Amino acid sequence: MKFFVDTAETSEIAELAEAGLVDGVTTNPSLIAKSGRDFLEVVKEICDLIDGPVSAEVTALEAPAMIAEGKKLAELADNVVVKLPLTFEGLKACQALTAANIQTNVTLCFSANQGLLAAKAGATYVSPFIGRLDDLGVDGMELIANLRTVFDNYGFDTQILAASIRSADHVQQCALIGADVATVPPSVLKDLVKHQLTDKGLEAFMSDWQKTGQSIL
Ligand code: G3P
Repeated sequence: MKFFVDTAETSEIAELAEAGLVDGVTTNPSLIAKSGRDFLEVVKEICDLIDGPVSAEVTALEAPAMIAEGKKLAELADNVVVKLPLTFEGLKACQALTAANIQTNVTLCFSANQGLLAAKAGATYVSPFIGRLDDLGVDGMELIANLRTVFDNYGFDTQILAASIRSADHVQQCALIGADVATVPPSVLKDLVKHQLTDKGLEAFMSDWQKTGQSIL
């Protein structure tokens, strides 16, 4: 499973990339607003930082304007993926951008039917939102499993990019189900390495090592 980082904070991306943990980046208008930075500038900067796909979202609501925005975003760098909302207009734009050899990520997916439509429109990625379904008392992970089944049933190449991930357990469940990508906030990505038995074991090893009075270097 690939890891994308769900943030527009370039310092966080750079830190995680140093540990080899970043296969790509996803942004959205809320994350751009949170960064307080110029959208096109920050997308360009992220694209320069990492080689993998960087999702940048259109803000128009009608297909012709989405297509125009998407083409402008795609000109920023070779690794830009144009993010489009899962609406009828978004699907039309997905079809057109795909035909123009531009990679797409159809976002705000909340049902397997929506995901099926995105795949039929030729989306490179579809982004099902787990946490926002959980917030409504619906099991978000079931959507990941259903999409996996649907895409496998028909041999769609569209990648399942699990989004709205809120915990390490979400990541583990996605990996078990077979999501292609998990886009993860930096804090959750750092949480994945933690285990209390790792900390306890390391503490014991260090204490015993000190008793030997030896040093490696
Ligand atoms: O990638 C989508 C993600 O940023 C949404 O997450 O936590 O706002 O539901 P959240």
